[in-house]
Amino acid sequence: MNIVVIGAQWGDEGKGKIVDYLAADSGIIVRFSGGANAGHTIVLGGERYALHLVPSGILYPDKTVILGTGMVIDPEALFNELAGLEKKGIDWLGRVLISDRAHIVLPSYRRIDKELEQKRVRPIGTTGRGIGVAYSMKACRDGVRLADLDDPDRLVNLEAEDRAFVEAWKDRLTPMSIDLVSYLRAHRNAYTLFEGAQGALLDIDTGSYPFVSSGMACSAGAAAQGGIGPRKVDRVLGVFKAYTTRVGNGPFPTEFADDSPGSLSSYIRETGNEYGVTTGRPRRCGYLDLVALRYAVAANSIDRLVLTHLDVYDELEEFEACVAYRIRGKLVEDFPAAIRDLEGAEPVLRKFKGWKESIAACTAWDELPRKAKDYVAFIEEYVETPISMISVGSDRRQTMVRESPWTRS
Ligand code: GDP
Ligand code: IMO
Ligand code: MG
Repeated sequence: MNIVVIGAQWGDEGKGKIVDYLAADSGIIVRFSGGANAGHTIVLGGERYALHLVPSGILYPDKTVILGTGMVIDPEALFNELAGLEKKGIDWLGRVLISDRAHIVLPSYRRIDKELEQKRVRPIGTTGRGIGVAYSMKACRDGVRLADLDDPDRLVNLEAEDRAFVEAWKDRLTPMSIDLVSYLRAHRNAYTLFEGAQGALLDIDTGSYPFVSSGMACSAGAAAQGGIGPRKVDRVLGVFKAYTTRVGNGPFPTEFADDSPGSLSSYIRETGNEYGVTTGRPRRCGYLDLVALRYAVAANSIDRLVLTHLDVYDELEEFEACVAYRIRGKLVEDFPAAIRDLEGAEPVLRKFKGWKESIAACTAWDELPRKAKDYVAFIEEYVETPISMISVGSDRRQTMVRESPWTRS
């Protein structure tokens, strides 16, 4: 069975936590997109693990994790990350594999990434990890894949620094390299998780272009770049927060205008620890945007949702969620493509009463306060999609399952 897990907002929804939780019942975890721009956090009994390139699932000693074809991999970042995991007692040798069709991020890409940002009239706010350049080189057909590392014709045009870099890492990468398609064909009876990076609204095609990342953050990315085809996807899970965050620049209709100390924005940032895992940047915060969520659900065939960070609302008297936009005086219920429309969108907000109690220890749906259930039910009705899991804290155990995603329906 194949389950795809993607972010349904602008990233950082808690994908790492959810993939880690679901990995208990899977054998293989394939990260299909993105690179070291991602930061996926797993918290286990007080220990915090920040993963950037390594798929969530690595914490279990018996799982195979694979960096998929759609990833752009900086070997230096990868081996630093693996060394960090090793220091924490995680034995990874032999069970971290890489698609031989995945692309390498070269040192010049990082430099060009920063130069491009400096030249932009409106910078994107990239992570500076060379991600956009790696995907551009791939599209230009000038990229370097793992499979190309021994082919002098593919390396001849590289700058000296990049060529030396490839030479330096080649011998460590090659033993990890696999043909992902044939690997997954051989393991077709396994329970496999496909872990997305970024989120639906940062996807190169369906996101808030140009304020997006450059990879396929959409569920289709798992099929194109995860080593399987679209008809082998059994379920698509979309992870979203009870509110919305965004790092970097770009439109954000529900963003709180007031971000001063003591504001709701700063309360959510501190309570939800909303700081980037990769860059440490404070995340921009706002209410849940149901217009954007419904768009993400439709664009990705999300058939089950996973709600995270519900606990962050525990102390609020009341809160709101966006049910439509008003753009130039007109009521709009679809997520617009034009950046100016998104930037000019005034959110139409609906109020909800808070539950004013801690839900951090709730382990079952029945234990949630009625007002929390009302919020969940409203979201399900608005987006016409069941919420099958709810997360009430960062720890693996703070997760409730209403319906196991591994159950076929
Ligand atoms: P990802 O990129 O989607 O994997 O998410 P990140 O790891 O970048 O950001 C999610 C942050 O929220 C991390 O610090 C997690 O430990 C934390 N987290 C995940 N789920 C929950 C939750 O339900 N409640 C709270 N309070 N924190 C959570
Ligand atoms: P995870 O997987 C949140 C954002 C950057 C920037 C834009 C482009 O942890 O959810 P890039 O360096 O990719 O060219 O930057 O995309 N961005 C993310 N925001 N979560 C992420 O990943 C992100 N990966 C990239 O902040 O605005
Ligand atoms: Mg993240």
